[in-house]
Amino acid sequence: MIEHIVAEDPARHAEGIEALYDLTFGPGHFAKTAERLREHNHSLPELNRVAIGRDGAIAGVVRLWPVRVETGGLALFVGPVAVQPEYRGARLGLDLCRLALEAGHEAGWTGAIIIGAPDYFSALGFARVAPDQLVFPGPQDMSRVMVLDLTDALCRYHGRIIPHRLYGSGGQFA
Ligand SMILES: CC(C)(COP(=O)(O)OP(=O)(O)OC[C@H]1O[C@@H](n2cnc3c(N)ncnc32)[C@H](O)[C@@H]1OP(=O)(O)O)[C@@H](O)C(=O)NCCC(=O)NCCS
Repeated sequence: MIEHIVAEDPARHAEGIEALYDLTFGPGHFAKTAERLREHNHSLPELNRVAIGRDGAIAGVVRLWPVRVETGGLALFVGPVAVQPEYRGARLGLDLCRLALEAGHEAGWTGAIIIGAPDYFSALGFARVAPDQLVFPGPQDMSRVMVLDLTDALCRYHGRIIPHRLYGSGGQFA
Protein backbone atom coordinates (compact mmCIF):
# COMPACT_ATOMS: atom_id res chain seq x y z
CA MET A 1 0.00 0.00 0.00
CA ILE A 2 1.18 3.52 -0.78
CA GLU A 3 1.93 5.73 2.22
CA HIS A 4 2.30 8.95 0.27
CA ILE A 5 3.45 10.61 -2.96
CA VAL A 6 6.04 13.36 -2.56
CA ALA A 7 8.39 15.54 -4.59
CA GLU A 8 11.83 14.02 -5.07
CA ASP A 9 14.33 14.85 -2.38
CA PRO A 10 17.54 13.84 -4.19
CA ALA A 11 19.48 13.27 -0.98
CA ARG A 12 16.88 10.80 0.28
CA HIS A 13 15.46 9.31 -2.93
CA ALA A 14 18.01 9.40 -5.78
CA GLU A 15 19.69 6.11 -4.93
CA GLY A 16 16.38 4.22 -4.62
CA ILE A 17 15.10 5.78 -7.84
CA GLU A 18 18.18 4.66 -9.79
CA ALA A 19 17.78 1.15 -8.32
CA LEU A 20 14.14 1.06 -9.45
CA TYR A 21 15.09 2.23 -12.95
CA ASP A 22 17.83 -0.41 -13.15
CA LEU A 23 15.41 -3.11 -12.02
CA THR A 24 12.71 -1.93 -14.43
CA PHE A 25 14.62 -1.12 -17.59
CA GLY A 26 18.03 -2.79 -17.25
CA PRO A 27 21.25 -1.45 -18.73
CA GLY A 28 19.78 -1.10 -22.27
CA HIS A 29 17.84 1.86 -20.97
CA PHE A 30 20.78 4.23 -21.47
CA ALA A 31 21.01 3.39 -25.17
CA LYS A 32 17.56 4.78 -25.93
CA THR A 33 17.06 8.03 -27.85
CA ALA A 34 15.09 9.42 -24.88
CA GLU A 35 18.27 9.20 -22.86
CA ARG A 36 19.92 11.73 -25.22
CA LEU A 37 17.47 14.28 -23.78
CA ARG A 38 18.39 13.32 -20.21
CA GLU A 39 22.16 12.98 -20.31
CA HIS A 40 23.88 16.33 -19.68
CA ASN A 41 20.50 17.59 -18.48
CA HIS A 42 19.00 17.81 -14.99
CA SER A 43 15.52 16.68 -14.03
CA LEU A 44 13.44 18.95 -11.83
CA PRO A 45 13.24 17.40 -8.32
CA GLU A 46 10.53 19.82 -7.21
CA LEU A 47 8.30 18.48 -10.01
CA ASN A 48 9.41 14.82 -9.97
CA ARG A 49 7.09 12.58 -7.97
CA VAL A 50 8.00 9.58 -5.83
CA ALA A 51 5.55 7.10 -4.29
CA ILE A 52 6.62 5.76 -0.91
CA GLY A 53 5.35 2.38 0.26
CA ARG A 54 4.35 1.46 3.81
CA ASP A 55 7.85 0.05 4.37
CA GLY A 56 9.42 3.37 3.38
CA ALA A 57 10.82 1.99 0.11
CA ILE A 58 10.23 3.65 -3.25
CA ALA A 59 7.20 2.11 -4.96
CA GLY A 60 7.13 4.28 -8.07
CA VAL A 61 8.63 7.33 -9.70
CA VAL A 62 8.36 9.77 -12.57
CA ARG A 63 10.88 12.43 -13.44
CA LEU A 64 10.39 15.56 -15.56
CA TRP A 65 13.17 17.09 -17.66
CA PRO A 66 13.38 20.54 -19.25
CA VAL A 67 13.71 20.40 -23.02
CA ARG A 68 13.46 23.02 -25.72
CA VAL A 69 11.59 22.49 -28.98
CA GLU A 70 12.65 24.35 -32.10
CA THR A 71 9.17 25.85 -32.48
CA GLY A 72 7.12 26.08 -29.32
CA GLY A 73 9.82 26.68 -26.75
CA LEU A 74 10.20 24.96 -23.43
CA ALA A 75 8.52 21.69 -22.59
CA LEU A 76 8.61 19.07 -19.86
CA PHE A 77 9.95 15.74 -21.08
CA VAL A 78 8.23 13.11 -18.93
CA GLY A 79 9.84 9.86 -17.86
CA PRO A 80 10.85 7.30 -17.22
CA VAL A 81 7.75 6.19 -15.33
CA ALA A 82 8.37 3.08 -13.26
CA VAL A 83 6.32 1.24 -10.65
CA GLN A 84 7.66 -1.64 -8.55
CA PRO A 85 6.03 -4.87 -9.79
CA GLU A 86 4.22 -5.51 -6.49
CA TYR A 87 2.56 -2.07 -6.68
CA ARG A 88 1.32 -2.37 -10.28
CA GLY A 89 -2.35 -2.75 -11.11
CA ALA A 90 -3.72 0.41 -9.47
CA ARG A 91 -2.56 2.92 -12.10
CA LEU A 92 0.02 4.38 -9.74
CA GLY A 93 2.09 5.42 -12.76
CA LEU A 94 -0.75 7.63 -13.97
CA ASP A 95 -1.23 9.16 -10.50
CA LEU A 96 2.49 9.99 -10.34
CA CYS A 97 2.42 11.60 -13.79
CA ARG A 98 -0.76 13.53 -13.03
CA LEU A 99 0.67 15.00 -9.82
CA ALA A 100 3.99 15.84 -11.48
CA LEU A 101 2.26 17.56 -14.40
CA GLU A 102 -0.04 19.49 -12.05
CA ALA A 103 3.04 20.73 -10.21
CA GLY A 104 4.58 21.66 -13.56
CA HIS A 105 1.48 23.58 -14.57
CA GLU A 106 1.47 25.45 -11.24
CA ALA A 107 5.13 26.31 -11.82
CA GLY A 108 4.25 27.87 -15.17
CA TRP A 109 5.15 25.10 -17.60
CA THR A 110 2.80 25.06 -20.58
CA GLY A 111 3.35 21.69 -22.24
CA ALA A 112 4.76 18.19 -21.92
CA ILE A 113 6.14 15.50 -24.22
CA ILE A 114 6.25 11.78 -23.47
CA ILE A 115 7.40 8.60 -25.21
CA GLY A 116 5.27 5.67 -24.16
CA ALA A 117 2.22 3.53 -24.78
CA PRO A 118 -0.62 5.69 -26.14
CA ASP A 119 -3.23 3.34 -24.65
CA TYR A 120 -1.86 4.04 -21.17
CA PHE A 121 -0.87 7.72 -21.28
CA SER A 122 -3.90 8.97 -23.25
CA ALA A 123 -5.76 8.73 -19.92
CA LEU A 124 -3.86 11.89 -18.92
CA GLY A 125 -4.84 13.74 -22.10
CA PHE A 126 -1.65 13.02 -24.04
CA ALA A 127 -2.23 12.88 -27.81
CA ARG A 128 -0.03 11.37 -30.47
CA VAL A 129 1.95 13.70 -32.72
CA ALA A 130 2.11 13.64 -36.51
CA PRO A 131 5.00 11.45 -37.74
CA ASP A 132 7.06 14.46 -38.87
CA GLN A 133 6.06 16.89 -36.10
CA LEU A 134 9.02 16.40 -33.77
CA VAL A 135 12.63 15.44 -34.43
CA PHE A 136 14.48 13.53 -31.71
CA PRO A 137 18.26 13.29 -31.32
CA GLY A 138 18.26 9.70 -32.64
CA PRO A 139 15.97 7.03 -34.08
CA GLN A 140 12.50 7.16 -32.57
CA ASP A 141 9.25 5.26 -33.13
CA MET A 142 6.99 8.28 -33.58
CA SER A 143 3.82 6.24 -32.93
CA ARG A 144 4.85 6.31 -29.23
CA VAL A 145 5.44 10.09 -29.04
CA MET A 146 2.70 12.17 -27.45
CA VAL A 147 2.22 15.74 -26.30
CA LEU A 148 0.02 17.37 -23.70
CA ASP A 149 -0.85 21.02 -23.48
CA LEU A 150 -1.01 22.18 -19.88
CA THR A 151 -2.91 25.28 -20.98
CA ASP A 152 -5.88 25.53 -23.30
CA ALA A 153 -3.65 26.47 -26.22
CA LEU A 154 -3.37 24.27 -29.29
CA CYS A 155 -0.24 22.16 -29.38
CA ARG A 156 2.50 24.24 -30.86
CA TYR A 157 5.54 21.98 -30.66
CA HIS A 158 7.32 21.40 -33.96
CA GLY A 159 10.87 20.54 -34.98
CA ARG A 160 13.98 19.47 -33.15
CA ILE A 161 14.07 18.78 -29.43
CA ILE A 162 17.19 19.38 -27.36
CA PRO A 163 17.92 19.29 -23.62
CA HIS A 164 17.25 22.75 -22.25
CA ARG A 165 20.61 22.90 -20.53
CA LEU A 166 22.39 22.81 -23.90
CA TYR A 167 20.42 25.66 -25.37
CA GLY A 168 22.66 28.64 -25.96
CA SER A 169 25.85 26.80 -25.06
CA GLY A 170 26.60 24.72 -28.10
CA GLY A 171 23.14 23.20 -28.43
CA GLN A 172 21.52 25.96 -30.47
CA PHE A 173 19.30 25.06 -33.35
CA ALA A 174 21.09 25.23 -36.67
C1 LIG B 1 3.87 1.21 -17.07
C2 LIG B 1 3.68 1.07 -15.56
C3 LIG B 1 4.25 2.29 -14.85
C4 LIG B 1 2.17 0.95 -15.31
O1 LIG B 1 1.95 0.59 -13.95
P1 LIG B 1 0.57 1.00 -13.24
O2 LIG B 1 0.45 2.47 -13.20
O3 LIG B 1 0.49 0.23 -11.99
O4 LIG B 1 -0.49 0.53 -14.33
P2 LIG B 1 -1.53 -0.68 -14.18
O5 LIG B 1 -0.75 -1.95 -13.98
O6 LIG B 1 -2.56 -0.34 -13.15
O7 LIG B 1 -2.19 -0.70 -15.63
C5 LIG B 1 -3.27 0.16 -15.95
C6 LIG B 1 -3.70 -0.17 -17.36
O8 LIG B 1 -2.67 0.20 -18.28
C7 LIG B 1 -2.26 -0.95 -19.03
N1 LIG B 1 -0.81 -0.86 -19.19
C8 LIG B 1 0.11 -0.95 -18.23
N2 LIG B 1 1.34 -0.82 -18.77
C9 LIG B 1 1.17 -0.66 -20.08
C10 LIG B 1 2.03 -0.48 -21.17
N3 LIG B 1 3.38 -0.43 -21.03
N4 LIG B 1 1.50 -0.37 -22.40
C11 LIG B 1 0.15 -0.40 -22.59
N5 LIG B 1 -0.73 -0.56 -21.60
C12 LIG B 1 -0.22 -0.68 -20.36
C13 LIG B 1 -2.67 -2.14 -18.18
O9 LIG B 1 -2.85 -3.28 -18.99
C14 LIG B 1 -3.95 -1.65 -17.57
O10 LIG B 1 -5.00 -1.75 -18.49
P3 LIG B 1 -6.46 -2.24 -18.02
O11 LIG B 1 -6.93 -1.20 -17.03
O12 LIG B 1 -7.23 -2.26 -19.28
O13 LIG B 1 -6.24 -3.57 -17.39
C15 LIG B 1 4.36 -0.22 -15.01
O14 LIG B 1 3.80 -1.34 -15.70
C16 LIG B 1 5.86 -0.23 -15.20
O15 LIG B 1 6.61 0.27 -14.36
N6 LIG B 1 6.29 -0.81 -16.32
C17 LIG B 1 7.71 -0.86 -16.68
C18 LIG B 1 8.23 0.50 -17.10
C19 LIG B 1 7.49 1.12 -18.27
O16 LIG B 1 7.13 0.43 -19.24
N7 LIG B 1 7.25 2.44 -18.17
C20 LIG B 1 6.50 3.18 -19.16
C21 LIG B 1 7.36 3.79 -20.18
S1 LIG B 1 8.32 5.15 -19.57
